[in-house]
Amino acid sequence: MIARISGTGSALPAKTVSNADLAMTVDTSDEWITSRTGISERHIAVDGEYTSTFAVEAARRALSMAGISPEDLDLIILGTVTPDFPFPSTACIVQSELGAHKAVAFDVSAACSGFIYALSIADSFIRSGQFKKVLLIGAEVLSRVVNWKDRNTCILFGDGAGAAVLEASRDQHGLVSTHIFSNGSCWDLLYQPGSGSRNPAANPATDPASYFIHMEGNEVFKHAVRAMEEAAQAALDANGITSSDLTLFIPHQANRRIIDAIAKRLDLDSGRVFVNLHRYGNTSSASIPIALDEANRQGRLKSGDLLLLDAFGGGFTYGSALIRW
Ligand code: UT7
Repeated sequence: MIARISGTGSALPAKTVSNADLAMTVDTSDEWITSRTGISERHIAVDGEYTSTFAVEAARRALSMAGISPEDLDLIILGTVTPDFPFPSTACIVQSELGAHKAVAFDVSAACSGFIYALSIADSFIRSGQFKKVLLIGAEVLSRVVNWKDRNTCILFGDGAGAAVLEASRDQHGLVSTHIFSNGSCWDLLYQPGSGSRNPAANPATDPASYFIHMEGNEVFKHAVRAMEEAAQAALDANGITSSDLTLFIPHQANRRIIDAIAKRLDLDSGRVFVNLHRYGNTSSASIPIALDEANRQGRLKSGDLLLLDAFGGGFTYGSALIRW
């Protein structure tokens, strides 16, 4: 059995915040943000919008494309580091909203690699025969854990969700292989210090500034390039192919310079690299499924195409997925 992607969907907040908007509140400029990151604007949730809001909308679109009803789902896996609540899982909230009564639902915490981790878990369940119809979602509202006074981080992140429906299939189209990795020795280069058991929200001694993302940008940048190259190469090596066999490379959308560096290392021309971060910024676990959905709806994915997804995030976590469309 192979896991075939039968539907994709995405959902973004309606509100956008441009670089010029940010330059009115922090010491930055459109020129700096564009040249150092490639980002022009990001979508930001408003009051009353949560991670599950966008997860449910993206899921409905993916289910509609796949032509299957929520009651048919066996499993829902949702990648996020900005869940609606510490518990229950946001996947359980999505299950309830969709009416996916018989599905098992859980979240995966792998930061920006959340969707690739979810793909890998789903692939194992489908190959083993345990589940046949699976909904995967990457969803974040990072704007709620970003310090909007910190120009080092607030320019980077955005909100949104992407989803994919996977179905067990006997044909040759679907997930060829997934390759996931972790490097916990660098956990403190990119993390959210407050609100967990170390610095609990209920403790008056906890510094409110600790609720925001802490990131050593330069270090993360260097690790991201090396790790994403390693993950991509693992997929190529495991399948005895080279980057010249790839139709489209869909990397995590964190920084245009990271994407360009990896593309250069993999010898991929820009026409085979999908980039949409200028419009969304870094949406963490949502970035790859949003990009996959856009490529799909733009008609860029043809039957038989070979796609390589590649992610890196806090943890560090990283991984890749090779897909025969
Ligand atoms: O999903 C994975 C998670 N995160 C990432 O992948 C992020 C990886 N890192 C990056 O994308 C980049 O490191 C950043 C975009 C965060 C920063 O870019 P950089 O080219 O590494 O800049 P830098 O941190 O080395 O800062 C260079 C200068 C500094 O000024 P001085 O010390 O040279 O005077 C910063 O203070 O740019 C300054 N700076 C800014 N200036 C204007 C930093 N942020 C800004 C800003 N606007 N927003």
